Amino acid sequence: MIEFDNVSLSFGKRIILDKMSFRAEFYEKIAVLGGSGEGKTTLLKLILGLLNPDSGRILIDGRDITVLSESEMRESRMKFSIVFQEGALFDSMNVYENVAFSLREYSALPEEEIEAQVRELLAKLDLEHAIYHMPEELSGGMQRRVAIARSLSGCKPLMMLYDEATTGLDPLTADNICQLINELAAGESPQRLGFIIVTHKVTDAVKVADRYMYLRQGKIAFDGDLSALKLTADPELAKFVEELHYCIS
Ligand SMILES: Nc1ncnc2c1ncn2[C@@H]1O[C@H](COP(=O)(O)OP(=O)(O)O)[C@@H](O)[C@H]1O
Ligand SMILES: [Mg+2]
Repeated sequence: MIEFDNVSLSFGKRIILDKMSFRAEFYEKIAVLGGSGEGKTTLLKLILGLLNPDSGRILIDGRDITVLSESEMRESRMKFSIVFQEGALFDSMNVYENVAFSLREYSALPEEEIEAQVRELLAKLDLEHAIYHMPEELSGGMQRRVAIARSLSGCKPLMMLYDEATTGLDPLTADNICQLINELAAGESPQRLGFIIVTHKVTDAVKVADRYMYLRQGKIAFDGDLSALKLTADPELAKFVEELHYCIS
């Protein structure tokens, strides 16, 4: 369980999160929506302990991570896998090396075992044929798949964090990544691998999530399911979800 308890964070004079509170289970499928600069990426960094809030508590499985040592923090971070915005890959490494990177770096496994794990992961994500390709030879969608494979290698997360996983992709490719996100989150709660996807594309969010949070001016201006989202009386949010009327009934 993730719990934000009155979390505030400013950069200089700019308030990014303003006494924000919410709770989420690891098995939930959550989309965090909001315009550019509203603090979506910041929220993920706080969950990972890559940033510390100015005030408030962030509890992961009941432990306040804002007061942990770096080694305790690492342990908490292992509960999550993050796919960063743009899913940046190492340009000078092929797909195999990109996915093997953290195993080689942080585990003492022999190369044969690493190769077995990487191959298994690539097969799962339908990437086997691209194993020796360089990132520049791959389409945007394939690069994003490799980024997801890389985030999963060497760890057994309880929850995935996707930062703008479909941004910059054409609609068909974005749809393909949404399918992959759904496949990885298949199964019944509470066993399933849940996720938080941060996005400003509400049309992609509805393909994967069943809970929606809308960030505005440091607050959660909306938190609810799709039917509530479609019925929102908030004029700004209504504008945000307007495009939904064209793509779902
Ligand atoms: N390390 C930082 N130092 C100063 N300002 C930052 C830093 N990280 C983010 N910001 C600012 O905080 C705001 C929220 O950033 P971010 O969480 O990346 O927004 P979003 O992901 O919703 O587009 C933005 O205005 C951004 O410029
Ligand atoms: Mg962002």
